[in-house]
Amino acid sequence: MVLLRCVQGIVSTLVLISVCLIGAYKTVSDDTLRRLPRPGLDFDIYHGPILAPILRTRVPGTPGAEAVRDHFVNFFRSSLPEWKIELHNFTAQTPVSNNREISFTNFIAFRDPPGINEGDTARLTLVAHADSKLKPTGFIGAIDSAAPCAIIMHAVRSIYIALTRKWSSEAYPSNDTHGIQVIFTDGEERFSDDSSNLVDDLYGSRTLAADWEMQEYPPTARYPNRLASISLFVLLDLLGTSEPVIASNYNTTHWVYKNIARLEARLRQLGQFKSISTKKDTSAVRSWFIDSDREARPGHIVDDHVPFYSRGVKILHIIDYDPFRGFPGVWHTLDDDGQHLDLAAVEDWSLLMTAFLAEWLHLEGYMDD
Ligand SMILES: *[C@@H]1O[C@H](CO)[C@@H](O)[C@H](O)[C@H]1NC(C)=O
Ligand SMILES: *[C@@H]1O[C@H](CO)[C@@H](O)[C@H](O)[C@H]1NC(C)=O
Ligand SMILES: *[C@@H]1O[C@H](CO)[C@@H](O)[C@H](O)[C@H]1NC(C)=O
Repeated sequence: MVLLRCVQGIVSTLVLISVCLIGAYKTVSDDTLRRLPRPGLDFDIYHGPILAPILRTRVPGTPGAEAVRDHFVNFFRSSLPEWKIELHNFTAQTPVSNNREISFTNFIAFRDPPGINEGDTARLTLVAHADSKLKPTGFIGAIDSAAPCAIIMHAVRSIYIALTRKWSSEAYPSNDTHGIQVIFTDGEERFSDDSSNLVDDLYGSRTLAADWEMQEYPPTARYPNRLASISLFVLLDLLGTSEPVIASNYNTTHWVYKNIARLEARLRQLGQFKSISTKKDTSAVRSWFIDSDREARPGHIVDDHVPFYSRGVKILHIIDYDPFRGFPGVWHTLDDDGQHLDLAAVEDWSLLMTAFLAEWLHLEGYMDD
């Protein structure tokens, strides 16, 4: 039954089998969906404790970037004490740094199931970029990607207690090897306006993917290296405007995409969503996930998943990109700020990601207070 569900919406490839073997995907109940933790004032753009501190310029190597990184560290230390935090530092020159080395830091945090060796743990990995664009001066990047970072922070905090409960319960099967990891990358945005410069972006993800591939586990471990232990790389980008359009770009992970689309539909039916998404000129509900009834379509967006994808990591790219109309209107303009966010949509995304984590990590029965 489980294997069937995995094999259904996918083209059969060997890689997929491994996804199915590390544990089945388990849906949560309507009751659980109705009681998901709400962000409350966390996403208030002026004073909210999660999102407001990210809504500032945070160009790599500047005090703004450091302040936002401190915010991430403080949040995980105080709200998710069981998580391990790592700062992955490196330096690089950019086309505008006049031969000066710029400091970059990827923020990484993870939590593994108890009693499982690190090399045997499969980590579901949630990713967004922490940096903002150098130009136009004063660019905030609320959807790009302050809000995606905040959505991830809310979602992992919302399952914190459930994971503790599950992993300390007697029924916990010690062969359950799902862990969870967050990466907030640095230097995703390019510094120059020259889009033909192929190394002037993805600074953090390129360095991290290469380093993790070299970080080998013992020969007896299930995974050869830290890169290979990523069970799924879920990249959130450009989220926080109204009526997002999310396409599916990989047949290998299309079954996960469909599961998230199904959660979206259920949350709407249960009256849990606050934002509105309707079909053009009608009042009929339009799913954010436009490919949930068809196969994946080829996509060519360059983003932080590329260095991981090219090394064989499985990708789910959740980015608002309409194949016919392109990126959201505020994209890469000064209008991409807190005031232009659709906070109802941000809250809905945070609920949807929480529900997805609860299903992936098998938290039904552990979510209740
Ligand atoms: C990385 O850099 C930060 C400052 O940006 C520093 O606090 C931290 O100790 C460094 N971490 C490592 C592992 O070098
Ligand atoms: C884990 O163990 C349980 C019984 O303890 C078994 O039913 C299940 O199939 C095992 N799962 C895996 C992935 O080995
Ligand atoms: C997914 O598979 C279908 C059917 O084989 C194919 O038409 C489509 O192009 C594939 N999509 C991608 C992104 O590879």
